[in-house]
Amino acid sequence: MFYHYRFFDELNSTNTYAKENISSLEDRSVIIADYQTNGRGRMSRQWVATNESLTFSIVYKDPFILQNFASLSLLSSVAVYLSLKEEHLENIKLKWPNDVIVNDKKICGILMESVSSTSLSNIILGIGINVNNSSFNEDINATSMLIEAKKSFNKIEFLERLISNLEGLIEEVKQGNNHYLQIFKENNYLLNKELIATIDNKEELVKVIDILDDNRILVEYNSNRIALSSGELTFHKTKH
Ligand code: BTN
Repeated sequence: MFYHYRFFDELNSTNTYAKENISSLEDRSVIIADYQTNGRGRMSRQWVATNESLTFSIVYKDPFILQNFASLSLLSSVAVYLSLKEEHLENIKLKWPNDVIVNDKKICGILMESVSSTSLSNIILGIGINVNNSSFNEDINATSMLIEAKKSFNKIEFLERLISNLEGLIEEVKQGNNHYLQIFKENNYLLNKELIATIDNKEELVKVIDILDDNRILVEYNSNRIALSSGELTFHKTKH
């Protein structure tokens, strides 16, 4: 599949740009900003990135992808996982729904949004990866490819390989093969961890059991097992 790249020196946020220009952007447009002034994270958080980070958003208008919204969320973090592995990074884990963790620190965040243009709904997949960052504020538990691999990387070359992995995994799903889910389950950072989660507006202590085939997370609480989707669950803090 062909991806259309648009490069910008600076944008407030590649997701915001994609949202504002959704009607004129083709399927699989990639918006890349060397520097973002107002990057957005999940749950209305800020995403702080310098020009050492790779920040981009992909617009999907392909009906198959729209139907598989939940899969794309996990699948995109698996594509990052595979790309980091190809660069020989070690101890890479996937934190449901879509954070990528290396040596217990966050290296990549993903913000997926759905926007409507006319009657159709489109997906904006925003990915931020710490590539050549040499340090972080102490209050953020983050790492970068440079810190882990002790060398710097060409951001655009890495992006091209990442998109090729992403498209490869999408192609597998089209053929009925959920290989991405198997990789996610095998590298599930939260497996057996106890977390405080908000369920039905109440804080509960839950233990993570598995990721289900429909991409929801299976947790145990009060001796019951329940499946949750990302909108229904907020992790406040990790107990262990
Ligand atoms: C998170 O971990 O909370 C998600 C962070 C997502 C950051 C990326 S950077 C590119 C794209 N543009 C944004 O404003 N956010 C996403």
